[in-house]
Amino acid sequence: MKITALLRCLLAGGFVVAASAARSDGAGDPAPVSSTDGQYFDKDGNPTYKIGKDGKVDWYTFIGYRMYGANCLQCHGPDALGSSYAPSLVDSLKSLSTQQVLGTIIGGKRDVTAAQDLVMPSFGENKNVMCYLNPIYTYLRARSDGALGRERPSDHEAKPVDWEKTVDDCFK
Ligand code: HEC
Repeated sequence: MKITALLRCLLAGGFVVAASAARSDGAGDPAPVSSTDGQYFDKDGNPTYKIGKDGKVDWYTFIGYRMYGANCLQCHGPDALGSSYAPSLVDSLKSLSTQQVLGTIIGGKRDVTAAQDLVMPSFGENKNVMCYLNPIYTYLRARSDGALGRERPSDHEAKPVDWEKTVDDCFK
């Protein structure tokens, strides 16, 4: 009995340490270990990018570049480098976990001080963002890790066979 309790305690402590380490180190190791329909995932099951030496990007990074441009660029600036109004997401993602980033996109964020009132809108009801959440995140992760340069990716992997259907189903 006592040994079991001690073990549980140690395991619980170990988990807390691991969780806070993950938080202070952004999303952790981005190496892809699996893929489904063109989306790559890291060892924790979070969306990640795959970029070849020739600069060819995975489909999700490519779509994310476009959807970032359509929905986020006006505040967060070209190539996610920030503006006078909103922070650089290249910098922010270095310390934010996947869940923190997705949570902010879905729920929004507001920082009010005497000097400023910064508002990150909540996109949870906006299908133009929600239907492209993984691509947008994948693109930002690649930018933040320095794996993807500025400007439009020069080449990308083929469009996944079910891509149009997946997007159509989401917009229904
Ligand atoms: C209307 C302007 C605006 C738009 C559009 C916008 N944001 Fe933001 N965003 C902000 C502001 C301002 C902040 C800082 C809020 C704060 O500090 O409380 C922010 C914060 C964030 C953060 C948290 C950064 C941090 O360091 O905590 C993330 C992640 C983010 N935005 C992602 C996005 C993504 C992805 C999109 C596009 C889908 C987007 N934003 C569109 C204005 C915007």
